Amino acid sequence: MLVEKNVPLQHCNTFGIAARAETLVRVRGEDDIRHFLADPLWGRQPVFVLGGGSNVVLTGDVAPVVLKMEIMGMRLAQETDRHWIVEAGAGERWHDMVAWTLSRGYAGLENMALIPGTVGAAPVQNIGAYGLELQDRFESLDAVDLATGEQFTLDAAQCAFGYRDSVFKHAPAQPKYWPVQGSAPRGLGLKGRAVITRVRLALPKAWKPDLGYLDLQRKQAEKGVEHPTARQIFDWVCEIRRAKLPDPEVIGNAGSFFKNPTVTPEQCADIIARDPKIVHYPMDDGSIKLAAGWMIDACGWKGKSMGRAGVYDRQALVLVNRGNRHSVDGSVTGGEVMTLAKAIQTSVYERFGIRLEPEPVVV
Ligand code: EPU
Repeated sequence: MLVEKNVPLQHCNTFGIAARAETLVRVRGEDDIRHFLADPLWGRQPVFVLGGGSNVVLTGDVAPVVLKMEIMGMRLAQETDRHWIVEAGAGERWHDMVAWTLSRGYAGLENMALIPGTVGAAPVQNIGAYGLELQDRFESLDAVDLATGEQFTLDAAQCAFGYRDSVFKHAPAQPKYWPVQGSAPRGLGLKGRAVITRVRLALPKAWKPDLGYLDLQRKQAEKGVEHPTARQIFDWVCEIRRAKLPDPEVIGNAGSFFKNPTVTPEQCADIIARDPKIVHYPMDDGSIKLAAGWMIDACGWKGKSMGRAGVYDRQALVLVNRGNRHSVDGSVTGGEVMTLAKAIQTSVYERFGIRLEPEPVVV
């Protein structure tokens, strides 16, 4: 177990915010977590689990012990009649897993190419893009209970996936009944209580392209390919994302900053009466999802800045670092990002009566 003090985190978060970890432990295997928890000095300290840092806003130095997830490895864990079950360590980059599966001939993750972040972070917010979400391919995950050091496995139902949501985003509801050894009971939040170590995905042998998303249909028409391969869809998704979303290595950002809000058909009709052009999608459960990017754009925020925090000029849902993401003094601060985020929330609320909810974790 490697414990480091006063560690710069600027290159461990995709916004490029120059905060530090007072204490950081690199986790390269389940044993590192067990040793950490058994340590008389560290074992009872509050922790903060950091993956690729692609979904966090650091508003200052991090006082809890940062567990930096660096468990690596990818393998074909199992083959069933209908699926390839692939497994990756929490510290692998998500995009590397997508590329690795395709290189082995296991299709099914191509729509989720180029999503920043690690494999271990993917289930936390049930990442998704271009018509597919992690839960559509999820098989199970291994995690370690931070209270007991016990390892347990969760299936999709136990993860309670929702839109950019899972059991890992919710605080434990009844801590006095926790822990239950060997398995996590359903319905209890696991935020701060467990750390994901490995993720298994089920990739269908009978693969079919998923081209339901408008941007992909446009790309297909542009390329003139009637029956694309998974590799072609992978390339198209990479092209679409590169054209629309900033590369975090160059312009710091955390992807979509707000979730797309859902409203009732009545609320939506109300908004349409005032703003007929609002982009909205009916959901299976009867609710309507509104495009937050469209609303922020309609409020005139696209391309605007407050301090060194800005609204990306090609996608208003993405807040960016307009400072130097590689410089300690010149980079955006978490405070600047949150000030801009609050100003956007206020103007969207005043115009549409909708409260936008941030997607990243604010620390
Ligand atoms: N729009 C505007 N102006 C803007 C931005 C968007 O008018 O500045 C309109 C677009 O023209 C489009 C609609 O809003 O009609 C939706 O935009 P887009 O297709 O870009 O998708 P999104 O809803 O903004 C979501 C995810 C992205 C994901 C894309 C593609 C959320 C919060 N975001 O964005 O995920 O890549 O769909 O599937 O669900 C992320 O979560 O970090 C992320 C990047």
